[in-house]
Amino acid sequence: MKLDKVEILDLPKILDERGNLSYLEGQNHIPFKIKRTYWIYDVPGGQMRGGHAYKSLHEVIIALSGSFDVVLNDGVEEKRFHLNRSYFGLYVPNGIWRHLDNFSTNSLCLIMASDIYDEKDYIRDFKEYQKANL
Ligand code: TYD
Repeated sequence: MKLDKVEILDLPKILDERGNLSYLEGQNHIPFKIKRTYWIYDVPGGQMRGGHAYKSLHEVIIALSGSFDVVLNDGVEEKRFHLNRSYFGLYVPNGIWRHLDNFSTNSLCLIMASDIYDEKDYIRDFKEYQKANL
């Protein structure tokens, strides 16, 4: 099942009484070559983002600030991941239906993606996703 390939990445953290620091190095911490980074912010209460699958894109999602849920569905089972620490990344491979919801006030969602934006890589209809059997 596709959801078995989903992984929580435990990123390095340098604890310091002046303030903590975390980092990621593409080739050391991310299971694909990063071609694009984007972020989602100013999400009004109760709103959701996503609601689609990617045919070939892989991604890592980080809650840089605040918290939100990433809900993943592979057509067989559904899992909800609550992200609320900036040193955890959620690796989501291609072929999984996903949406983000339950955003806290001032949350900041950072997404690293294996490709540039391409609408042709999206499946935005859940029935079509189930039929596609990616
Ligand atoms: P979309 O991926 O549909 O957002 P969501 O994650 O909520 O499904 O993107 C929303 C709009 O932003 C869409 O018109 C395409 C545009 N967009 C870009 O131009 N570049 C990007 O990297 C992303 C992620 C979106």
